[in-house]
Amino acid sequence: MDLQFTVNRDLCIQCGACVDDCPFHIIEMGDGSPVTNPTRVHHCIRCQHCLAVCPTAALSICGVNPEQSLPLPQSLPSGRQMEALIRGRRSVRFYKLEPLPSATIAEMLAIVANAPTGKNNRQCLFTVIEDQESMALLRQETLEGLRRAVAEKRLSEGLSYFRHVVTAWDQGRDIIFRNAPHLLMVSAPPTITTPDADMLIAMSYFELLAASMGIGTLWNAMIRWAFSVIEPDMYQRLGIPGDHVKGYALLFGFPAVHYPRTVQRDEALINRVRLH
Ligand SMILES: Cc1cc2nc3c(=O)[nH]c(=O)nc-3n(C[C@H](O)[C@H](O)[C@H](O)COP(=O)(O)O)c2cc1C
Repeated sequence: MDLQFTVNRDLCIQCGACVDDCPFHIIEMGDGSPVTNPTRVHHCIRCQHCLAVCPTAALSICGVNPEQSLPLPQSLPSGRQMEALIRGRRSVRFYKLEPLPSATIAEMLAIVANAPTGKNNRQCLFTVIEDQESMALLRQETLEGLRRAVAEKRLSEGLSYFRHVVTAWDQGRDIIFRNAPHLLMVSAPPTITTPDADMLIAMSYFELLAASMGIGTLWNAMIRWAFSVIEPDMYQRLGIPGDHVKGYALLFGFPAVHYPRTVQRDEALINRVRLH
């Protein structure tokens, strides 16, 4: 396994931080600088902690240049800024027609690829719709699929609400997609350690990142429910591998609604435990 592990001996101060921080103990202090233990390198999960923890940017792994990492802590938002982001993010149900630049979406997904995943698996597949023709087709096919399900009486009681969705669509109201210009769906192979958690974390990070950039999002349970009753399989239509665990869908785009203040709902349900 070539980890592309290199140490700049001029910069290395032999502090041992990389040795201590490696979660799988693959690094040890060699003669004058850290080295990987060949009997343990196969345990490496490529988390890059060794690169991140090095105080002098002496270490590289996975071919990554430590000088290109953001410096910390000065790059972090303040606690107050994070509070405003968490309190101020909103479910956006009105969107401008104008799509996001493709480069912006690519940049957002690259940032979200830094979210944590179980054992650093990073196997979430982000399915994204960028162009308006595809969004229009998806809307149309979803609504037609629902119309068929209604006509063929295939809706369970829990999903009978979709009758109203179809009626609203015929009256010009898009209750499912909210006329959003973009859709993001996440899926992951069932074989990885923690697919469900990985997918939810990634989408949550995307949502917060979007809010910080003035981009609106809407978590969407309705798309999942709609897809569950539509035949033929809409996931297949979107090129999502059949064996993947299907995660959530987020709509996103520039908001056509402005919230000048946060909501106030601090009632956390807490089970504060003290064991004796
Ligand atoms: C998992 C999940 C699924 C959701 N599905 C929908 C949906 O299908 N349609 C919708 O309009 N809102 C949906 N929402 C948005 C919630 O209704 C919203 O988060 C909640 O009312 C609180 O409003 P806020 O997000 O603006 O704070 C969903 C939210 C979550 C977390």
